[in-house]
Amino acid sequence: MAQIIIKNLRKEFGAFTAVQSSSFTIEDGEFFMLLGPSGCGKTTTLRMIAGLELPTSGEIYIDGAEVSQKPASQRDIAFVFQMFALYPHMNVRKNISYPLVSQGMPSAQVRAKVSEVAGILGITALLDKPVSGLSGGDRQRVALGRAIVRDPSCFLMDEPLGALDAEFREHMALELRALHDRMGATTVYVTHDQLEAMQMGDKIVVMNHGVVEQFGKPQDIYDWPATTFVAKFIGSPAMNLLEFNDMVGNGATSVRLHETAIEVPEILTGTNGNLTFGVRPEHLHLDDTAG
Ligand SMILES: Nc1ncnc2c1ncn2[C@@H]1O[C@H](COP(=O)(O)OP(=O)(O)OP(=O)(O)O)[C@@H](O)[C@H]1O
Ligand SMILES: [Mg+2]
Repeated sequence: MAQIIIKNLRKEFGAFTAVQSSSFTIEDGEFFMLLGPSGCGKTTTLRMIAGLELPTSGEIYIDGAEVSQKPASQRDIAFVFQMFALYPHMNVRKNISYPLVSQGMPSAQVRAKVSEVAGILGITALLDKPVSGLSGGDRQRVALGRAIVRDPSCFLMDEPLGALDAEFREHMALELRALHDRMGATTVYVTHDQLEAMQMGDKIVVMNHGVVEQFGKPQDIYDWPATTFVAKFIGSPAMNLLEFNDMVGNGATSVRLHETAIEVPEILTGTNGNLTFGVRPEHLHLDDTAG
């Protein structure tokens, strides 16, 4: 079990800033999504949580302990990489056992633990098979088995389903979520796929150009996007955005668009500048009574 607090986290690579100043909290047991387009800093953020990359500044707390400058070996987490790398010369059992054997666990205990994990993942029948002949999905399960066998308090997954075709990807996504719900370990999951994030996540951080644009529950982000980037990035088909000029005061509940008054959720800050009107396709309906 683990709660992870990220505070003003920043990462520079030379003159380039990959992560600007991220702050968010991942609660114990959550399935947490890091979402954003390619190059926005998702992997860099995850690697800092893992301890594979040290931050330029800022703090990371795991269960209250500040770990930002500690190496990966001193953090109780398992990293599941984008490309599931299995040891090709070992069979399934040896692949899953590996982390326990290298920890020096007695072999009877290793056997019991590996059987339990294989049962959870539905791959008991494969244990003595070579990994070379396995299907893509079974390879994913073996790699997952290797990650969960240590009972880490937290899983970090970097686009674990990225290499799969769409149908199988959806199936594995459901399996991963079900596995999480059975085990209850905090999971941080990187994706650039907003649908995957919306469907799988308890909470989402939306990043763009190294900046956290929004952090919250999927439905709240969908209903109350904090920026036009989030409004455009979340939702399929995308939100319609229309730029216009109007003067509105604090607390206004309508705007004028081409002489037509349109009700909007409360406007928190008055403005007389350029405005953007956003409406989701499913909230539009055609009405032939209007002039
Ligand atoms: N070791 C490094 N040295 C220099 N620049 C780096 C390094 N690692 C990452 N970057 C840069 O930092 C930015 C963020 O990279 P990162 O890998 O975190 O993005 P990402 O959101 O995971 O993207 P993707 O969806 O393509 O995996 C990119 O512009 C990348 O080129
Ligand atoms: Mg990445």
